[in-house]
Amino acid sequence: MQFQWYPGHMTKAKRQMQEDMKLIDLVIELVDARIPQSSRNPDIDELGKNKYRLILMNKADLSDEGKNREWMEYFREIGCYAVCLDARSKAGMKQVTNVVMEACREKIERDRKRGIVNRPVRAMVVGIPNVGKSTFINSYAGRACAKTGNKPGVTKGKQWIRLNKNVELLDTPGILWPKFEDQTVGLRLALIGAIKDEILNIDELALALIELLQKEYPGVLSARYSTEEQPLREEEGAPEVLRLIAENRKCISRGNELDYGKAAALLIDEFRGGKLGRITLERP
Ligand code: G4P
Repeated sequence: MQFQWYPGHMTKAKRQMQEDMKLIDLVIELVDARIPQSSRNPDIDELGKNKYRLILMNKADLSDEGKNREWMEYFREIGCYAVCLDARSKAGMKQVTNVVMEACREKIERDRKRGIVNRPVRAMVVGIPNVGKSTFINSYAGRACAKTGNKPGVTKGKQWIRLNKNVELLDTPGILWPKFEDQTVGLRLALIGAIKDEILNIDELALALIELLQKEYPGVLSARYSTEEQPLREEEGAPEVLRLIAENRKCISRGNELDYGKAAALLIDEFRGGKLGRITLERP
């Protein structure tokens, strides 16, 4: 499968982010908890060097809880703070603030020793498109947020959202482009819907998902797509499994033939919507 690539946008976004990085203490990086590695852009390690780092594993409502724990441990091992999150819910936001403070403790301590109190930690949200940056900013900032406007010494036009007396957030998130030279990474990004569907071969994608589920989540496909008349036997090859899904879900085209495209789209859709259960596509 071939994917498209937009170096122009990428260069501009990267330059903007380099500028913004000068203004902040902490990088809040959102990744998709279903593919915590493939939804990162490794450039952020270079862009955000010398900054405090927090990784939010977002959409954790859709990912496997056991694997969430493995990934959190992995991120801690590489020196990042990590939190699992459903950005649509306000419930986890208090925890985010606590971890933000924890991540920046050194700076807060240093300021305090110099007699500087109540200088808020400044943070910026970054991540690939559709990972939930705007949703997170809205939930985190809440309704009560006050925009602080321009400040002396700060690039004109920058808006800061004052979250509380301790934290300020840049109101525009930084967009990182996903890196998908690697076909496996591209495939995983496509499966979670991070790459436009128009440029994808949906049948190929569905077959890849079936193979992955057969290996990592046995039982999931048969539980969802068996019928009383016809159980779905998972040990079949992926094309046969797709055929059985088409049959059991009555994906029929006009000529009364099985519509594999429809079955493929249905499977991908149900996976993305969490209907197959909580699934993580990669391990640390
Ligand atoms: P972005 O700024 O990074 O581009 O992402 P954005 O916030 O626009 O979020 C992209 C989509 O992901 C949104 O769906 C949003 O509701 C959903 N989303 C964000 N955080 C979470 C999360 O933690 N869990 C789940 N399950 N979904 C999340 P949308 O565009 O409205 O489409 P849809 O909700 O109709 O699918």
